Amino acid sequence: MTDDEDVSTPYGRHRQTTVYTTGMLTGNVPDIPVDPDRLADRAREELDGRAYDYVAGGAGGESTMRANRRAFDDWRIVPRVMRDTGTRDLSTTVLGREFAVPVLLAPIGAQGIVHEDGDLASARAAARWDVPYVCSTQASEPLEEVSDALGDTPKWFQLYASEDRELTRSLVERAEDAGYDAIVVTLDTPHLGWRERDLDRGFLPFLDGDGIANYTSDPVFRDRLAQPPEENPRAAAQEFVQVFSDATLTWDDLEWIASLTDLPVVAKGILHPDDARDAVAHGAAGVVVSNHGGRQVDNAVAALDQLPGIVDAVGDDAAVVFDSGIRRGADAVVALALGADVVSLGRPWVYGLGLAGEDGVASVCENFLADLDLTVALAGYDDVTELDESALQRG
Ligand code: FNR
Repeated sequence: MTDDEDVSTPYGRHRQTTVYTTGMLTGNVPDIPVDPDRLADRAREELDGRAYDYVAGGAGGESTMRANRRAFDDWRIVPRVMRDTGTRDLSTTVLGREFAVPVLLAPIGAQGIVHEDGDLASARAAARWDVPYVCSTQASEPLEEVSDALGDTPKWFQLYASEDRELTRSLVERAEDAGYDAIVVTLDTPHLGWRERDLDRGFLPFLDGDGIANYTSDPVFRDRLAQPPEENPRAAAQEFVQVFSDATLTWDDLEWIASLTDLPVVAKGILHPDDARDAVAHGAAGVVVSNHGGRQVDNAVAALDQLPGIVDAVGDDAAVVFDSGIRRGADAVVALALGADVVSLGRPWVYGLGLAGEDGVASVCENFLADLDLTVALAGYDDVTELDESALQRG
């Protein structure tokens, strides 16, 4: 968005007008496909096969990924008319901070495999659209540089708690020092899921040094190495594999992580109402209802099916974030109407990154926000925070 654009309707109408006018006057069509399925197809055609499969793939037979999408078909939006939707307010407040839009860019590790600019490109694109960004522990650039690229855009840091507690402490302290607003602790990855596409290719980006910048820049991690990572990157990658996750974590450990910081802690990967209650009881100020985009457990429940029960379980005690299967504006409307405070977008913007770097991510953000803006308006709402189950009917 530039300053001279009409900021009262910066998303939907503006985007349509630009695309249609350009198409009709010049014959040019958007560089980055608007349709998320065509976007994924283009990424499959143009990206390195290993990188594409790493992003697109899931656990086992990928039944969870299919279930994530199917679950949206169980809900239909009931559009209302004659409600003055001339201007829309997409802003919302999450963990005490105003977000311009009810959308986060989900934490995505190893972005360097799809584009050399990695997280810095994605963070700059997020900042262009003021879309809050979650920086992964497995970022391709150190979290401090990602924070700088985000500027004033809201930013959360996603933590994989390491077996090395001092390393975990160091990552949390660095995130707090770098100005992040929250720590998102991912709970669904005590082990890496069984990912057949990556296994068949024998491909794990971290072993190639991609997605371990937060480790190689960390003083505690560096102390564990006999030689600096710059001199012996292979040994650094091997050491990362040793410390990456802690499969012994229990709820008391979440309390310990919360005790390390003044920032709010958000528990990611919650699919059962009892786990949501436990997370809140052990210090979480928010939960992310997510099955990691189907990358962890095959035949798992669809994340959307679990959302209403978890919203009920946490009540007003925690912010609720939803991800896993969000592709279009209507998906976000359904999740917000079912009680999510904000949704996270995952794979689509990673495809945008792979196809065109910062501009690609910005395009995906713009299209998603335009679609969301128009869908909210056409459903009969001018304020996203007013969406509730009365906007929906079971399909
Ligand atoms: C992820 N996800 C993820 N989650 C997390 O907590 N830390 C991480 O580092 C990553 N890395 C990552 C890499 C890639 C390539 C993908 C596709 C996903 C999971 C992510 O945050 C989110 O939960 C899913 O992407 C949501 O599913 P969809 O909507 O993208 O299908």
